[in-house]
Amino acid sequence: MQFSTQLEEKFHRLAQHYPVKRSALVPMLLFAQDEYGFLSKEIIAEISRRMDLTVLDVEGTISYYSMLRTKPAGRFHLQICTNISCMLRGGDKLFDHAKTKLGIGNGEVTPDGLFSLEEVECIGACAWAPAIQVNYDFHHELTPERLDQLIDEIQRVSRV
Ligand code: FES
Repeated sequence: MQFSTQLEEKFHRLAQHYPVKRSALVPMLLFAQDEYGFLSKEIIAEISRRMDLTVLDVEGTISYYSMLRTKPAGRFHLQICTNISCMLRGGDKLFDHAKTKLGIGNGEVTPDGLFSLEEVECIGACAWAPAIQVNYDFHHELTPERLDQLIDEIQRVSRV
């Protein structure tokens, strides 16, 4: 499999950062996911080969980290935490609200490919619960109204 020049450069830089090759696996998977949207079987096989790991090793790592995915996501991937701190402050209601607002369920993508939704465990923002993550951006102390505003704003900006 042929990766883009930019991705090859990132891989090259990563390889120089770590004394143990395997340590570059997670960042390498994230870079590939950022470029392709998800980690296909072909990408997993190619990264396994480059890292001198088995496909099973790489798949095991992917299954451990919830931010790594093997299915396509929307351009904006909403991860809504419903773990204890967020749940006590309305995280589960926020997740239900997002499902209704977007018309999709957990792990699904909107028909236009703009949004995907995922219920997640703690994302490390408990002090600002309920918290969500949209791609790499965190949003804190959300209410259903603020979530609506956020989704509407993403839709507005994406149409331009
Ligand atoms: S419980 Fe939601 S961020 Fe920690």
